[in-house]
Amino acid sequence: MKKQEFTFHNGVTIPSIGFGTWQIPNSEAYDAVTMALKNGYTHIDTALAYRNEENVGKAIRDFDLPREDIFITSKLPAQTKGYDETLEAFNETITNLGVDYLDLYLIHAPWPWDEIGKDCTEGNVQSWKAMEKLYNDGKIKAIGVSNFEIKHLQPILDQCDIVPMADQIPFYVGKDQEELLAFCKEHNIVVEAYSPLATGQVLDMPELKDMAEKYGVTVAQLAIRYCLERDTLPLPKSTHEGRIKQNRELDFEISDEDVKTLKKIRDVRK
Ligand code: A2P
Repeated sequence: MKKQEFTFHNGVTIPSIGFGTWQIPNSEAYDAVTMALKNGYTHIDTALAYRNEENVGKAIRDFDLPREDIFITSKLPAQTKGYDETLEAFNETITNLGVDYLDLYLIHAPWPWDEIGKDCTEGNVQSWKAMEKLYNDGKIKAIGVSNFEIKHLQPILDQCDIVPMADQIPFYVGKDQEELLAFCKEHNIVVEAYSPLATGQVLDMPELKDMAEKYGVTVAQLAIRYCLERDTLPLPKSTHEGRIKQNRELDFEISDEDVKTLKKIRDVRK
């Protein structure tokens, strides 16, 4: 693979493909994460809201790798806003995972999931200040946000000390988020692509099938590789070993011309 890692603006590096665990129930998380680790993933992405941190953590701890060789991301629940609330949720997360530090901690969303669009600027700023404290105390190696648009990022940039190191957003062929990508690039914020397969919905697209065939790869590989071509860090999710393995075998390049074609594709997601 061309690029093995991304580097945050504080110099911390993050492996260029992460194993996403959204929608993997706690009961399946142990096996899925173990399979991912066995197949070479060293970057695991979870969240308190996924309710699988316990078995994600157990799988990581049981696997024979030093803690510093594994990159763990978790997230502050979208509805948890405020300074003390953030410190509390962070403690819950590291207790669930059974670790004493996180590599990356993200504000899961700018608003609670049942109040999408609500202005939570003050709450986000207070949460961010708590995350800055945890970062300065050495409990987290890097801090960032998720599902933040430019209008949510700007108050953090204006009112806080540390520029977010990452923004984890839905990104896949058909959902390029060009303006946000350009803004993040300008501020040195790494963009992480969750749902790089549009939760599976890109897999049946005829345009992708033809192009994947040309490169001798699967549609999933093409779609995940596309994220890297756009300088975003993909977080594919699967519970099947063959797919888990395949999703990080991305040792090919999509030509500039084909990237242009893929950029023109419309969002398939319903
Ligand atoms: P499964 O977990 O049964 O393997 P996303 O990463 O965009 O959220 O997409 C995840 C969805 O895509 C899941 O339903 C997953 O199913 C499926 N998936 C993941 N990798 C592959 C693959 N290589 N081929 C086909 N389907 C895949």
